[in-house]
Amino acid sequence: MTFGYGRSTCPGRQIAMVEIKVVVLALLKYFDVCFEHKHVQVPDFDITHLGVGIMPPLADVNVVIKSL
Ligand code: HEM
Repeated sequence: MTFGYGRSTCPGRQIAMVEIKVVVLALLKYFDVCFEHKHVQVPDFDITHLGVGIMPPLADVNVVIKSL
């Protein structure tokens, strides 16, 4: 329950979701993001943690971020 539930549901959740999308778009537009190791095995989704509509991966993947 990323944003809580019921009476204590986060009132800023819509703003937070838009902010996350803006940050991801800016990251993809202004930076070159690629895997650190070329033949990395992409991990499965962690289906036990739903919340913001996108499931996180089961394990971390190292990436290299370069400015364009
Ligand atoms: C990824 C970003 C965010 C996450 C994961 C998040 C998560 C949460 C959670 C779980 C709660 C409920 C806490 C509880 O059960 O007592 C909460 C409450 C709250 N959040 Fe957020 N939040 C986020 C962003 C924001 C933003 C951007 C704002 C304001 C613009 C905000 C304002 C609030 C407020 C005022 C409460 C208290 C609500 C109440 O007690 O009635 N949050 N948040």
